[in-house]
Amino acid sequence: MSEPANQPVKPTERMEKIVSLCKRRGFIFQSSEIYGGINGFWDYGPLGAELKRNVKELWWKSMTKMREDVVGLDASIIMHPAIWKASGHCDTFADPMVDCLLTKKRFRADQIEPQSGVAYFWSGAKDETSGKEVCEPFSALLAPGKPAESARKVATQFYTQRGLQAPALLGERTEKVENTTKYNPENGALLTEPRMFNLMFKSHAGPVESEENAVYLRPETAQAIFVQFKNVLETSRQKVPFGIAQIGKAFRNEINPRNYTFRSREFEQMELEFFIKPDEVVEKQCGSVASLPESGAPTDPPQANWGWEVWHGYWVEQRMRWYESIGLTRDTLEQYWQKKEELAHYARATVDILYKFPFGTQELEGIAARGCFDLTQHQTHSGKSMEYFDQEATAKYIPHVIEPSAGVDRLLLALICNAYDEEEVVDEKGKAEVRTVMRFHPRVAPIKVGIFPLLRNKPALVEKALAVRDLLRPFMNVFYDDAGAIGRRYRRQDEAGTPFGVTIDFDTIGENGPELEGTVTLRHRDSMKQERVKISDLLSILLPQVQ
Ligand code: GAP
Repeated sequence: MSEPANQPVKPTERMEKIVSLCKRRGFIFQSSEIYGGINGFWDYGPLGAELKRNVKELWWKSMTKMREDVVGLDASIIMHPAIWKASGHCDTFADPMVDCLLTKKRFRADQIEPQSGVAYFWSGAKDETSGKEVCEPFSALLAPGKPAESARKVATQFYTQRGLQAPALLGERTEKVENTTKYNPENGALLTEPRMFNLMFKSHAGPVESEENAVYLRPETAQAIFVQFKNVLETSRQKVPFGIAQIGKAFRNEINPRNYTFRSREFEQMELEFFIKPDEVVEKQCGSVASLPESGAPTDPPQANWGWEVWHGYWVEQRMRWYESIGLTRDTLEQYWQKKEELAHYARATVDILYKFPFGTQELEGIAARGCFDLTQHQTHSGKSMEYFDQEATAKYIPHVIEPSAGVDRLLLALICNAYDEEEVVDEKGKAEVRTVMRFHPRVAPIKVGIFPLLRNKPALVEKALAVRDLLRPFMNVFYDDAGAIGRRYRRQDEAGTPFGVTIDFDTIGENGPELEGTVTLRHRDSMKQERVKISDLLSILLPQVQ
């Protein structure tokens, strides 16, 4: 990305500019904005909706249409609640949460930065006017360099909230503390002990709000794939190894939604559950199980002797290539191979694909080797067999699974951050100006081509421009713009990330001689270079680049 020389843009400043452009140009809006918004929920505007559709369509195409061994599923969001018991979400899908005793603000306990200072303790307080006493102990942390009165002020507010009009603090003592996470980093007030908070949104199916009718909005799309494994297998004529792909909404009542859309309460996932033979079956069938190549990146076509490790490496590489194909180059991504002690109890290996966001390098997708955990759990809890009879291997088994699981909204945010660029350019009058340009890969760009008649009051130009629009629009998203100076129109499309602009001018309609008649200028967003091409060649030039 080229930033103006000598002016490195700070990450927070860059993020602010991105958020502002997203609102201004209709990529992302705060949900329910006219009512003050709702934390953790976002809406995609006209450009954002197109970007999102393109991303999902490209994932779907690469996963299902371009492969023989993956089929799709589109399952309901609310499912039988027993599914979440079997999957472990009812018991373990929870974050430790603490509340500020003064403001009631809620934090994730594991996200509190350790602090050092002097902890002040009080045994209670007494109202100086009424003589009423509150015996509840309280504590506040005094950060280094702050006057002791500021800790006492916090305590006074605490006891005022408990009904004392003029509290006199009782039994004060102090203690030096280091790296404590027991205090609110914003005001120093004591936090509650951590309590586990389940992240699933709960509702009720039917007219009675009883526990028997409790249901959950799915916190991941994956479980629907596991519970429909047998139906898909029987109807799709697939054989293990094969996969089931799904794109859909997921909901998590995150304690601290943050970093714009990065951690939301409603989001979309693109998940693949790829079912493979257990290693013992591969060994029995092939004599041995292949190990990962030195490069760690096995490529197509998959081989019969691949065990879980090679399949896992294969999917990591496939996913990296897909990100590259939509404009996230390898240097913008990182792979994080979870350490043994970090792995979920059922996972044999998990790799996170991270993107270097302006606010830090963070997860876009997790690729987990989950063994036979999920299908076994559903077999146990439902009493229905999840076994597969493998004719080639003459063996019966519960398939193992490799799960590449990506978040649509996080990817959109990564694409937007990656595309955002500012550069200094000189306009037609020789004046320097800053051009804001969204350098989306043409495959994901919301609008592929801007169509511009040079002048809106020349019917011959307009007629030709509309004809070009009608020629291209069955094949790609086009935007017709005849308002304002041509330079302004180009800038508007640069900000929308439109990779190509087609201008219909007097040459096009033959006013400057027959040799240029039927040609237009094709402008390239990134280089701003223009070339003269025939209208009849436009489709064959543009289509391969935007598909
Ligand atoms: N089935 C496995 C699973 O759900 P996960 O790591 O919890 O794994 C997968 O989620 C992906 O879903 C993440 O890598 C992320 O892209 C996306 N995701 C998870 N929680 C999210 C949230 N609160 N907001 C936006 N995206 C989220």
